[in-house]
Amino acid sequence: MEDFEFYNPVKIFFGKDQLSKISSQIPKDHRVMLLYGGGSIFRNGVYNKVKEAIKDYNVTEFGGIEPNPSYETAMQAVEIIKKDKIDFLLAVGGGSVIDATKFIAAATPYTRGDPWNILSKQIPVTASLPFGTVLTLPATGSEMNKNAVISRISTTEKLAFSSPCSFPRFSVLLPEAAASLPKKQVANGIVDAFVHVTEQYLTYPVNAPIQDRFAEAILKTLIEEGPKVYADPADYDAMANLMWSATMALNGLIQCGVPGDWSVHSIGHELTAFHGIDHAQTLAIVLPGLWKALREEKKDKLLQYGAGVWNITTGTEDERVDAAIAGTVEFFESLGIKTRLSDYSVGRETIERIVKRFEERKWLELGDRGLTTPSVTKQALEYQL
Ligand code: NZQ
Ligand code: ZN
Repeated sequence: MEDFEFYNPVKIFFGKDQLSKISSQIPKDHRVMLLYGGGSIFRNGVYNKVKEAIKDYNVTEFGGIEPNPSYETAMQAVEIIKKDKIDFLLAVGGGSVIDATKFIAAATPYTRGDPWNILSKQIPVTASLPFGTVLTLPATGSEMNKNAVISRISTTEKLAFSSPCSFPRFSVLLPEAAASLPKKQVANGIVDAFVHVTEQYLTYPVNAPIQDRFAEAILKTLIEEGPKVYADPADYDAMANLMWSATMALNGLIQCGVPGDWSVHSIGHELTAFHGIDHAQTLAIVLPGLWKALREEKKDKLLQYGAGVWNITTGTEDERVDAAIAGTVEFFESLGIKTRLSDYSVGRETIERIVKRFEERKWLELGDRGLTTPSVTKQALEYQL
């Protein structure tokens, strides 16, 4: 096992009757900004419940945060926060609202020029406004991690940052609120959580059985519970299992002491930046292609994954690797998520643009052991044409 530090200070309130606890988590004299997306919280009743929970505070609202939240929208919130001297943020929604809030919280006290530098130049975040979250969509794990992904419309870029200053103070996880999700968002959440696990699990063996088994347990739970939620998002028990799986998939626990990859995400972000394809859909395209391109380098873990998650124990090694990749594709497609670039009308020219961009950024050795070179990226995407 590799050396590691593990720190996660996020207080979690999970379940049906948790919103009333918010007021015990925000200092009484604070001015609060309530941030939300395109309006799902009005349709599913979460807005009224949250407003009731924070009725004793001076609250400013900021709505309209879009999926794949933009720098441009986030900076509008920063201006209001500075003008109104707001000192606590409350994000209500999915990963996009939470990520935007993380960026807004970091951009407000930022004094070293344009806050976009936090993303483009990876300038470390050293200060952040405090914030909490109310989660209505199981997918990203943003509710219990220190990462955020922000898009800049003017430059068609989508970049991530991560800082220990950017953990939420608390997160209220509401499986009930997620009952109103369209099937497509449920499927996206299952696939995103699934790939978060594989990014941390499917590298090479370092004799870390506890992390491997945590990872396999999350994957198996997603495979068992995911289809139940996809069939009926109002199935509370299944949704609760999906929500907790997604949180556990990316709260730092399974990354302890093991190598990570994350190149599926890096390539996927480009597909979103260039074509607006949903985050999880990009992962479903890239993951099988990358595994095909790196099947020799990742063989040990592909075999372990096949056996531990899909019960693939017979056949030659090559046959078992093929079956593990095919089973994954079948699972994604069973949730209505297509895995080919052509399914999204994307062709070779996008592959060239992505490879060129990675070369310009000097992203020459991404991921697990630096294996994802520009030529591996090209090959991986060509498998998915
Ligand atoms: O905007 P509203 O009206 O709220 O509608 C949203 C949005 O249209 C809707 N929705 C959310 N909860 C709902 C609901 N609709 C009905 N009922 C509910 N209960 O769902 C749509 C998608 O929401 P979004 O927040 O965009 O989805 P998700 O949670 O999948 O977040 C995706 C974003 O997170 C980033 C992605 O790149 C993408 O930008 N990620 C963040 C990560 C992190 N911070 O650690 C890791 C991930 O890998 C990912 O990159
Ligand atoms: Zn993701």
